[in-house]
Amino acid sequence: MKLLPTLTTLLLALTSTAIASALPPHSDETNSYPSPKYPSPPNKDHHNCLTTEQATSIVATFSSFLTNPNRTATAEIAQALLAEGYVEESDSINYLAGYPLGSQSFTGKEAYISDLSTAPPIPSFETLEILHTCNQIIWRWNIPHLALDKYPVKGIQVLYVNDPKSGQVNKAVLEFSSIAWGGDIGWVCTPPTGKQPVMASWVVDLGEYRCWCGR
Ligand SMILES: *[C@@H]1O[C@H](CO)[C@@H](O)[C@H](O)[C@H]1NC(C)=O
Repeated sequence: MKLLPTLTTLLLALTSTAIASALPPHSDETNSYPSPKYPSPPNKDHHNCLTTEQATSIVATFSSFLTNPNRTATAEIAQALLAEGYVEESDSINYLAGYPLGSQSFTGKEAYISDLSTAPPIPSFETLEILHTCNQIIWRWNIPHLALDKYPVKGIQVLYVNDPKSGQVNKAVLEFSSIAWGGDIGWVCTPPTGKQPVMASWVVDLGEYRCWCGR
């Protein structure tokens, strides 16, 4: 997909030397990475539904490949965890990467993994909550420190596991605070009048309160 280099560039901005040198150390979070736990625990449910143990393990594995500083290992873990035809949908990513809103952010497992393995790791995730249905996992997360470390970035991600026996993820749909992410990679977002936007003002005067974002 021709759009992918744009996202790689965006993610690579996280480790540009200028940004890296501005980073305060977070040694407490960068020293230990959970060893990948894959395949996930066997599915013991008689109805082939995700178990809580499985859902927790799949989230741990997913976050471990995003945070692993060894990108060769990242690619290996992602190969095992993601199903063929894996797709990712996120207008938060699309906006940051300049993709059309509503389009798939990543189409296909190989394209995703090749992009992922050249992008820098996310420093760390805090898992806020894991909920699951028979074949979906809802993962709420927080990235406490990212690049310039101006804002924490919170997100909600749905992982689709079509066949819980396989334990593989077919699709991820996620949204997160893209304004916070943008601020962390050097975007400037300010209301043009200097006023803080408030919810009720949206309907009253969009022009006055519209947020401007740019580099
Ligand atoms: C990175 O991961 C690969 C694959 O798991 C492994 O073979 C390699 O030794 C690792 N490199 C380092 C520096 O740990």
